[in-house]
Amino acid sequence: MSKPFTDAVVRLDFYISHTLGLSRKEAKMLIGKGHVNVNGELVKKANHSVTREDTIVCQEEELSWPAEKYFVLNKPAGFVCATEDDVHPVVLELIEAHEQKDLRVVGRLDLDTTGLLLLTTDGQWLHRITSPKSQCPKQYRVWTVDDVTDEAMQALQEGVMLNGEHAPTQADAVERVDCDEILLTISEGKYHQVKRMLAATGNRVEKLHRETIASLSIDDLAEGEYRALTDEEIALF
Ligand code: URA
Repeated sequence: MSKPFTDAVVRLDFYISHTLGLSRKEAKMLIGKGHVNVNGELVKKANHSVTREDTIVCQEEELSWPAEKYFVLNKPAGFVCATEDDVHPVVLELIEAHEQKDLRVVGRLDLDTTGLLLLTTDGQWLHRITSPKSQCPKQYRVWTVDDVTDEAMQALQEGVMLNGEHAPTQADAVERVDCDEILLTISEGKYHQVKRMLAATGNRVEKLHRETIASLSIDDLAEGEYRALTDEEIALF
């Protein structure tokens, strides 16, 4: 798969080849032959750096920076959070073919987990959400094999030791819905975090659904459906 066009700074030959659908070699030739101007100056170096603030003209035509894409999907079970997989269908297949180019999955949900999943072409936005520093709250609805005791609710809130970790992991909030159903909010994104937190209380997750990330929800989306984010939603992160 091609490198996503998401970096703030890219090489001129990469920009030209991506924007005009040319090979890197063809783009280099165009640049080398003096057909490309950046901010009114002739540029013949293929490795010249450009950003979306630059005005790039190729053979008299002003080129534009590709618009970034931001989607929210209600992920069904049985789909892998990847762009390619040899065994299972991937979430990208749920997005219309013409929208798929350069899309990346923001974080991961397990194969059997359902619910809110973000996809974007914008690498910086993706990083802001997934970086451990971001502390972005994610709420999960958790159905458990055994009833969740009051002691387990308290342990999840105060911090539990996950297998292989040296410090306790705490939920931001835990709310009981039923004896075997809770709403768990976490801000970290450790591997299998929810399942490991429940395992640390001696229980097991039967079914897991991500309801929200920050104030973003998928109440309007049926399983497998997706939509573009609004400008206000993009600005949340
Ligand atoms: N925690 C998990 O254990 N699995 C997920 O898919 C998401 C969070």
